[in-house]
Amino acid sequence: MGPDKITGVSTTAISLAKSRCRVLIGEGLLQQIGNEIRRYVSRRTCGVISDSNVAPLFADSVTESLTSAGFGTTLIAIPGGEKSKTLRQAGTICDRMIAAGLDRQSFLVGVGGGVIGDISGFVAAIYHRGIPHIQLPTTLLAMVDSSIGGKTGVNTRDGKNLIGAIHHPLLVIDDLNALKTLPVREFNQGFAEIVKHAVIADAKMFRMLQSWQATEAVALQQLIRRNIQIKSKIVAKDEQDQTGERALLNFGHTVGHAIERAGSYRKFLHGEALSLGIIAACAVSIKRAGLPQEQRDAVVDLLHRFELPTRLPPSFPRPKILDALKFDKKFEGGKIRFVVTPSIGAANVTTSVTMADIREAVDEL
Ligand SMILES: NC(=O)c1ccc[n+]([C@@H]2O[C@H](COP(=O)([O-])OP(=O)(O)OC[C@H]3O[C@@H](n4cnc5c(N)ncnc54)[C@H](O)[C@@H]3O)[C@@H](O)[C@H]2O)c1
Ligand SMILES: [Zn+2]
Repeated sequence: MGPDKITGVSTTAISLAKSRCRVLIGEGLLQQIGNEIRRYVSRRTCGVISDSNVAPLFADSVTESLTSAGFGTTLIAIPGGEKSKTLRQAGTICDRMIAAGLDRQSFLVGVGGGVIGDISGFVAAIYHRGIPHIQLPTTLLAMVDSSIGGKTGVNTRDGKNLIGAIHHPLLVIDDLNALKTLPVREFNQGFAEIVKHAVIADAKMFRMLQSWQATEAVALQQLIRRNIQIKSKIVAKDEQDQTGERALLNFGHTVGHAIERAGSYRKFLHGEALSLGIIAACAVSIKRAGLPQEQRDAVVDLLHRFELPTRLPPSFPRPKILDALKFDKKFEGGKIRFVVTPSIGAANVTTSVTMADIREAVDEL
Protein backbone atom coordinates (compact mmCIF):
# COMPACT_ATOMS: atom_id res chain seq x y z
CA MET A 1 0.00 0.00 0.00
CA GLY A 2 2.95 2.33 -0.72
CA PRO A 3 2.66 6.05 -1.56
CA ASP A 4 4.86 5.77 -4.68
CA LYS A 5 2.17 5.05 -7.27
CA ILE A 6 0.27 8.32 -7.11
CA THR A 7 -0.38 9.94 -10.52
CA GLY A 8 -2.43 12.66 -12.26
CA VAL A 9 -4.75 15.06 -10.45
CA SER A 10 -5.91 18.67 -10.60
CA THR A 11 -5.91 20.90 -7.54
CA THR A 12 -8.97 21.09 -5.30
CA ALA A 13 -9.61 23.82 -2.72
CA ILE A 14 -11.56 23.74 0.53
CA SER A 15 -12.47 26.77 2.63
CA LEU A 16 -12.88 26.02 6.31
CA ALA A 17 -15.51 28.60 7.18
CA LYS A 18 -14.95 29.35 10.85
CA SER A 19 -11.16 29.45 10.89
CA ARG A 20 -10.95 31.21 7.49
CA CYS A 21 -8.32 28.64 6.56
CA ARG A 22 -8.02 27.56 2.94
CA VAL A 23 -6.67 24.17 1.94
CA LEU A 24 -5.32 23.29 -1.51
CA ILE A 25 -4.74 19.65 -2.45
CA GLY A 26 -2.95 18.76 -5.67
CA GLU A 27 0.30 17.70 -7.29
CA GLY A 28 3.44 19.74 -7.91
CA LEU A 29 2.14 22.54 -5.66
CA LEU A 30 5.43 22.98 -3.78
CA GLN A 31 7.06 24.25 -6.98
CA GLN A 32 4.34 26.90 -7.43
CA ILE A 33 4.04 27.86 -3.82
CA GLY A 34 5.30 31.44 -4.21
CA ASN A 35 2.62 32.51 -6.66
CA GLU A 36 -0.05 30.66 -4.73
CA ILE A 37 0.90 32.39 -1.45
CA ARG A 38 1.11 35.74 -3.25
CA ARG A 39 -2.63 35.46 -3.90
CA TYR A 40 -3.39 35.39 -0.16
CA VAL A 41 -0.56 37.30 1.50
CA SER A 42 0.52 40.89 0.84
CA ARG A 43 3.51 40.65 3.20
CA ARG A 44 7.07 40.61 1.86
CA THR A 45 9.27 38.49 4.14
CA CYS A 46 8.93 35.01 5.57
CA GLY A 47 10.67 32.31 7.55
CA VAL A 48 10.56 28.75 6.24
CA ILE A 49 10.83 26.12 8.98
CA SER A 50 11.65 22.55 8.00
CA ASP A 51 13.50 19.54 9.39
CA SER A 52 16.75 17.80 8.51
CA ASN A 53 14.96 15.01 6.57
CA VAL A 54 12.47 17.15 4.69
CA ALA A 55 14.63 20.22 3.93
CA PRO A 56 17.03 18.34 1.57
CA LEU A 57 14.00 17.03 -0.36
CA PHE A 58 11.78 20.09 -0.70
CA ALA A 59 13.30 23.25 0.82
CA ASP A 60 15.09 24.32 -2.38
CA SER A 61 11.90 24.16 -4.47
CA VAL A 62 9.95 26.01 -1.81
CA THR A 63 12.49 28.80 -1.21
CA GLU A 64 13.17 29.24 -4.94
CA SER A 65 9.47 29.54 -5.63
CA LEU A 66 8.99 32.03 -2.78
CA THR A 67 12.00 34.08 -3.87
CA SER A 68 10.90 34.24 -7.49
CA ALA A 69 7.48 35.44 -6.32
CA GLY A 70 9.29 38.34 -4.61
CA PHE A 71 9.35 37.13 -0.99
CA GLY A 72 12.46 37.63 1.14
CA THR A 73 12.97 34.13 2.50
CA THR A 74 14.95 32.74 5.46
CA LEU A 75 15.23 28.95 5.72
CA ILE A 76 15.60 27.47 9.20
CA ALA A 77 16.07 23.68 9.38
CA ILE A 78 15.90 21.87 12.73
CA PRO A 79 16.78 18.23 13.46
CA GLY A 80 14.05 15.77 12.35
CA GLY A 81 11.85 13.97 14.87
CA GLU A 82 9.73 14.52 17.96
CA LYS A 83 12.76 15.40 20.11
CA SER A 84 12.90 18.77 18.31
CA LYS A 85 9.41 19.77 19.48
CA THR A 86 10.61 21.70 22.52
CA LEU A 87 10.32 25.19 23.99
CA ARG A 88 14.09 25.50 23.66
CA GLN A 89 13.94 24.74 19.93
CA ALA A 90 11.04 27.19 19.52
CA GLY A 91 13.22 29.82 21.25
CA THR A 92 16.13 29.06 18.93
CA ILE A 93 13.87 29.47 15.90
CA CYS A 94 12.65 32.84 17.27
CA ASP A 95 16.25 34.00 17.81
CA ARG A 96 17.16 33.08 14.25
CA MET A 97 14.11 34.84 12.91
CA ILE A 98 15.01 37.99 14.85
CA ALA A 99 18.61 37.78 13.58
CA ALA A 100 17.29 37.49 10.01
CA GLY A 101 15.28 40.68 10.46
CA LEU A 102 11.85 39.07 10.33
CA ASP A 103 9.27 41.23 12.08
CA ARG A 104 5.55 41.42 12.74
CA GLN A 105 4.93 42.09 9.07
CA SER A 106 6.49 38.73 8.16
CA PHE A 107 4.83 35.32 7.94
CA LEU A 108 5.96 31.79 8.65
CA VAL A 109 5.84 28.70 6.45
CA GLY A 110 6.19 25.20 7.95
CA VAL A 111 7.37 22.47 5.54
CA GLY A 112 7.25 19.00 7.07
CA GLY A 113 5.22 16.56 9.12
CA GLY A 114 3.22 17.16 12.28
CA VAL A 115 6.30 18.06 14.29
CA ILE A 116 7.13 20.96 11.99
CA GLY A 117 3.46 21.94 11.73
CA ASP A 118 3.14 22.07 15.52
CA ILE A 119 6.37 23.93 16.31
CA SER A 120 6.21 26.35 13.37
CA GLY A 121 2.57 27.08 14.23
CA PHE A 122 3.53 27.69 17.84
CA VAL A 123 6.33 30.07 16.83
CA ALA A 124 3.89 31.86 14.48
CA ALA A 125 1.45 32.18 17.40
CA ILE A 126 3.98 33.84 19.71
CA TYR A 127 6.36 35.69 17.37
CA HIS A 128 5.59 39.42 17.74
CA ARG A 129 2.37 38.20 19.44
CA GLY A 130 1.30 36.34 16.32
CA ILE A 131 2.09 36.32 12.61
CA PRO A 132 0.32 34.38 9.82
CA HIS A 133 1.18 30.70 9.47
CA ILE A 134 1.16 28.64 6.28
CA GLN A 135 1.52 24.87 6.43
CA LEU A 136 2.97 22.64 3.75
CA PRO A 137 2.37 19.20 5.26
CA THR A 138 4.59 16.44 3.90
CA THR A 139 3.19 13.42 5.78
CA LEU A 140 -0.24 11.86 5.36
CA LEU A 141 -0.84 12.28 9.09
CA ALA A 142 -0.12 16.00 8.85
CA MET A 143 -2.42 16.39 5.82
CA VAL A 144 -5.44 14.62 7.31
CA ASP A 145 -4.98 15.58 10.93
CA SER A 146 -2.34 17.86 12.45
CA SER A 147 -2.54 20.72 9.90
CA ILE A 148 -6.27 21.11 10.60
CA GLY A 149 -7.79 22.53 13.77
CA GLY A 150 -5.28 25.17 14.80
CA LYS A 151 -3.64 23.30 17.68
CA THR A 152 0.03 24.17 17.88
CA GLY A 153 2.56 23.45 20.57
CA VAL A 154 5.64 21.81 21.98
CA ASN A 155 6.42 19.02 24.45
CA THR A 156 8.00 19.35 27.88
CA ARG A 157 9.99 16.89 29.99
CA ASP A 158 6.71 15.76 31.58
CA GLY A 159 4.58 15.15 28.55
CA LYS A 160 3.55 15.87 24.99
CA ASN A 161 1.90 19.10 23.83
CA LEU A 162 1.74 20.59 27.34
CA ILE A 163 2.58 24.08 26.07
CA GLY A 164 0.81 25.55 23.08
CA ALA A 165 -1.67 27.89 21.49
CA ILE A 166 -4.61 27.78 19.13
CA HIS A 167 -3.41 29.47 15.96
CA HIS A 168 -5.13 28.49 12.71
CA PRO A 169 -3.02 28.49 9.57
CA LEU A 170 -4.04 30.96 6.89
CA LEU A 171 -3.34 28.44 4.18
CA VAL A 172 -2.57 24.72 4.03
CA ILE A 173 -1.06 23.34 0.84
CA ASP A 174 -1.08 19.56 0.45
CA ASP A 175 1.21 18.44 -2.38
CA LEU A 176 0.51 14.75 -3.02
CA ASN A 177 3.93 14.42 -4.66
CA ALA A 178 5.56 15.08 -1.28
CA LEU A 179 4.16 11.78 -0.05
CA LYS A 180 6.18 9.81 -2.60
CA THR A 181 9.34 10.01 -0.50
CA LEU A 182 7.57 9.12 2.73
CA PRO A 183 8.60 5.73 4.20
CA VAL A 184 5.72 3.22 3.90
CA ARG A 185 5.47 2.85 7.68
CA GLU A 186 5.00 6.62 8.03
CA PHE A 187 2.44 6.61 5.20
CA ASN A 188 0.43 3.81 6.79
CA GLN A 189 0.31 5.44 10.21
CA GLY A 190 -1.71 8.24 8.64
CA PHE A 191 -4.41 5.67 7.94
CA ALA A 192 -4.91 5.12 11.67
CA GLU A 193 -6.29 8.67 11.94
CA ILE A 194 -8.32 8.12 8.75
CA VAL A 195 -9.85 4.91 10.15
CA LYS A 196 -10.55 6.84 13.38
CA HIS A 197 -12.41 9.52 11.41
CA ALA A 198 -14.41 6.82 9.61
CA VAL A 199 -15.36 5.07 12.84
CA ILE A 200 -16.48 8.22 14.65
CA ALA A 201 -18.16 10.04 11.77
CA ASP A 202 -18.40 8.36 8.38
CA ALA A 203 -19.68 4.81 7.81
CA LYS A 204 -19.59 5.37 4.04
CA MET A 205 -15.88 6.21 4.09
CA PHE A 206 -15.35 3.14 6.26
CA ARG A 207 -16.89 0.92 3.55
CA MET A 208 -14.86 2.69 0.88
CA LEU A 209 -11.64 2.03 2.82
CA GLN A 210 -12.48 -1.68 2.98
CA SER A 211 -11.74 -1.90 -0.75
CA TRP A 212 -9.16 0.92 -0.89
CA GLN A 213 -6.38 0.87 -3.51
CA ALA A 214 -3.80 3.67 -3.23
CA THR A 215 -2.99 3.73 -6.93
CA GLU A 216 -4.89 6.78 -8.13
CA ALA A 217 -3.99 10.25 -6.98
CA VAL A 218 -7.57 11.39 -7.37
CA ALA A 219 -8.72 8.76 -4.85
CA LEU A 220 -6.07 9.88 -2.38
CA GLN A 221 -6.94 13.53 -3.01
CA GLN A 222 -10.61 12.83 -2.29
CA LEU A 223 -9.76 10.81 0.77
CA ILE A 224 -7.60 13.63 2.20
CA ARG A 225 -10.32 16.15 1.38
CA ARG A 226 -12.99 14.07 3.11
CA ASN A 227 -10.84 13.70 6.23
CA ILE A 228 -10.14 17.42 6.39
CA GLN A 229 -13.88 18.04 6.18
CA ILE A 230 -14.62 15.59 8.98
CA LYS A 231 -12.00 17.05 11.30
CA SER A 232 -12.78 20.68 10.54
CA LYS A 233 -16.51 20.14 11.02
CA ILE A 234 -15.93 18.68 14.49
CA VAL A 235 -13.41 21.43 15.35
CA ALA A 236 -15.78 24.19 14.15
CA LYS A 237 -18.36 23.05 16.72
CA ASP A 238 -15.80 23.33 19.52
CA GLU A 239 -13.07 25.74 18.43
CA GLN A 240 -11.53 26.21 21.88
CA ASP A 241 -11.80 22.55 22.92
CA GLN A 242 -14.37 23.39 25.60
CA THR A 243 -17.80 21.94 24.79
CA GLY A 244 -16.63 18.34 24.52
CA GLU A 245 -17.43 17.94 20.81
CA ARG A 246 -13.76 18.09 19.90
CA ALA A 247 -13.11 15.27 22.38
CA LEU A 248 -14.61 12.86 19.83
CA LEU A 249 -11.35 13.21 17.90
CA ASN A 250 -9.65 11.55 20.88
CA PHE A 251 -11.31 8.24 20.04
CA GLY A 252 -8.67 5.52 20.53
CA HIS A 253 -6.20 8.02 21.95
CA THR A 254 -6.66 7.30 25.68
CA VAL A 255 -5.10 3.85 25.37
CA GLY A 256 -3.09 4.84 22.27
CA HIS A 257 -1.21 7.58 24.12
CA ALA A 258 -0.64 5.27 27.08
CA ILE A 259 0.86 2.64 24.75
CA GLU A 260 3.11 5.26 23.14
CA ARG A 261 4.29 6.38 26.54
CA ALA A 262 4.73 2.83 27.87
CA GLY A 263 6.94 2.11 24.86
CA SER A 264 8.97 5.27 25.64
CA TYR A 265 7.83 6.71 22.25
CA ARG A 266 10.23 4.31 20.51
CA LYS A 267 8.33 1.05 20.05
CA PHE A 268 5.39 2.45 18.08
CA LEU A 269 4.73 5.42 15.84
CA HIS A 270 1.75 7.49 16.98
CA GLY A 271 -0.57 5.98 14.36
CA GLU A 272 0.53 2.48 15.26
CA ALA A 273 -0.20 3.02 18.96
CA LEU A 274 -3.50 4.62 17.92
CA SER A 275 -4.39 1.49 15.94
CA LEU A 276 -4.14 -0.53 19.17
CA GLY A 277 -5.96 2.20 21.08
CA ILE A 278 -8.83 2.08 18.56
CA ILE A 279 -9.14 -1.67 19.09
CA ALA A 280 -9.20 -1.17 22.88
CA ALA A 281 -11.83 1.57 22.49
CA CYS A 282 -13.92 -0.83 20.38
CA ALA A 283 -13.71 -3.48 23.13
CA VAL A 284 -14.90 -0.90 25.68
CA SER A 285 -17.61 0.16 23.22
CA ILE A 286 -18.96 -3.41 22.97
CA LYS A 287 -19.40 -3.41 26.74
CA ARG A 288 -20.54 0.17 27.37
CA ALA A 289 -22.14 1.35 24.12
CA GLY A 290 -23.54 -1.79 22.49
CA LEU A 291 -21.11 -1.90 19.56
CA PRO A 292 -21.81 -5.17 17.68
CA GLN A 293 -18.90 -7.64 17.84
CA GLU A 294 -18.80 -7.98 14.02
CA GLN A 295 -18.31 -4.21 13.66
CA ARG A 296 -15.35 -4.37 16.05
CA ASP A 297 -13.97 -7.22 13.92
CA ALA A 298 -14.40 -5.12 10.76
CA VAL A 299 -12.40 -2.28 12.37
CA VAL A 300 -9.59 -4.70 13.26
CA ASP A 301 -9.56 -6.10 9.68
CA LEU A 302 -9.40 -2.59 8.25
CA LEU A 303 -6.46 -1.57 10.45
CA HIS A 304 -4.72 -4.80 9.47
CA ARG A 305 -5.27 -3.93 5.79
CA PHE A 306 -3.14 -0.82 6.29
CA GLU A 307 -0.42 -2.87 7.94
CA LEU A 308 -1.13 -1.34 11.32
CA PRO A 309 -0.58 -3.39 14.50
CA THR A 310 -3.65 -5.15 15.90
CA ARG A 311 -1.93 -7.05 18.76
CA LEU A 312 0.64 -6.00 21.35
CA PRO A 313 3.92 -7.90 21.05
CA PRO A 314 4.25 -10.48 23.88
CA SER A 315 7.35 -8.71 25.22
CA PHE A 316 5.58 -5.33 25.56
CA PRO A 317 5.55 -3.98 29.16
CA ARG A 318 1.76 -4.12 29.60
CA PRO A 319 1.63 -2.89 33.24
CA LYS A 320 3.29 0.33 32.09
CA ILE A 321 0.23 1.08 29.92
CA LEU A 322 -2.02 1.41 32.95
CA ASP A 323 0.63 3.45 34.80
CA ALA A 324 0.78 5.77 31.78
CA LEU A 325 -2.99 6.31 31.71
CA LYS A 326 -2.84 8.62 34.70
CA PHE A 327 -0.83 11.13 32.66
CA ASP A 328 -3.72 11.43 30.27
CA LYS A 329 -5.41 14.83 30.32
CA LYS A 330 -8.81 13.14 30.08
CA PHE A 331 -8.30 11.75 33.59
CA GLU A 332 -8.16 15.16 35.21
CA GLY A 333 -10.20 15.35 38.39
CA GLY A 334 -10.27 11.56 38.65
CA LYS A 335 -13.19 11.20 36.23
CA ILE A 336 -12.69 9.20 33.07
CA ARG A 337 -14.15 10.79 29.95
CA PHE A 338 -13.96 8.04 27.37
CA VAL A 339 -15.03 8.18 23.72
CA VAL A 340 -17.08 5.16 22.63
CA THR A 341 -18.72 4.16 19.36
CA PRO A 342 -22.20 2.57 19.45
CA SER A 343 -21.88 1.75 15.72
CA ILE A 344 -19.42 2.57 12.95
CA GLY A 345 -19.95 6.20 11.89
CA ALA A 346 -21.04 7.48 15.32
CA ALA A 347 -19.36 8.34 18.62
CA ASN A 348 -20.06 9.93 21.98
CA VAL A 349 -18.28 10.74 25.20
CA THR A 350 -19.28 8.82 28.31
CA THR A 351 -18.30 8.86 31.98
CA SER A 352 -19.62 5.33 32.58
CA VAL A 353 -16.35 3.65 31.61
CA THR A 354 -14.30 2.35 34.55
CA MET A 355 -10.59 1.72 34.91
CA ALA A 356 -11.44 -1.99 35.10
CA ASP A 357 -13.10 -1.78 31.63
CA ILE A 358 -9.95 -0.23 30.19
CA ARG A 359 -7.71 -2.79 31.90
CA GLU A 360 -9.83 -5.59 30.43
CA ALA A 361 -9.60 -4.04 26.95
CA VAL A 362 -5.81 -3.68 27.24
CA ASP A 363 -5.51 -7.30 28.41
CA GLU A 364 -7.26 -8.41 25.20
CA LEU A 365 -4.71 -6.66 22.96
N1 LIG B 1 -1.74 19.77 16.07
C1 LIG B 1 -2.50 18.71 16.01
O1 LIG B 1 -3.72 18.79 16.01
C2 LIG B 1 -1.83 17.36 15.91
C3 LIG B 1 -2.60 16.23 15.60
C4 LIG B 1 -1.95 15.02 15.44
C5 LIG B 1 -0.58 14.94 15.64
N2 LIG B 1 0.13 16.06 15.97
C6 LIG B 1 1.57 16.00 16.16
O2 LIG B 1 2.17 15.61 14.93
C7 LIG B 1 3.41 14.96 15.22
C8 LIG B 1 3.50 13.72 14.38
O3 LIG B 1 3.45 14.06 13.03
P1 LIG B 1 4.17 13.18 11.91
O4 LIG B 1 3.76 11.77 12.06
O5 LIG B 1 3.94 13.85 10.62
O6 LIG B 1 5.68 13.21 12.40
P2 LIG B 1 7.03 13.95 11.89
O7 LIG B 1 6.78 15.36 11.60
O8 LIG B 1 8.07 13.63 12.89
O9 LIG B 1 7.37 13.19 10.52
C9 LIG B 1 7.68 11.82 10.57
C10 LIG B 1 9.07 11.55 9.97
O10 LIG B 1 9.00 11.60 8.55
C11 LIG B 1 9.94 12.54 8.03
N3 LIG B 1 9.28 13.11 6.84
C12 LIG B 1 8.26 14.00 6.83
N4 LIG B 1 7.83 14.17 5.57
C13 LIG B 1 8.59 13.39 4.78
C14 LIG B 1 8.60 13.13 3.38
N5 LIG B 1 7.70 13.69 2.56
N6 LIG B 1 9.53 12.27 2.90
C15 LIG B 1 10.41 11.66 3.75
N7 LIG B 1 10.43 11.84 5.07
C16 LIG B 1 9.52 12.70 5.59
C17 LIG B 1 10.20 13.50 9.16
O11 LIG B 1 11.45 14.12 9.04
C18 LIG B 1 10.14 12.57 10.37
O12 LIG B 1 11.36 11.90 10.52
C19 LIG B 1 3.44 14.72 16.70
O13 LIG B 1 4.30 15.67 17.31
C20 LIG B 1 2.03 14.98 17.15
O14 LIG B 1 1.92 15.45 18.48
C21 LIG B 1 -0.48 17.25 16.11
ZN1 LIG C 1 -3.65 11.15 16.81
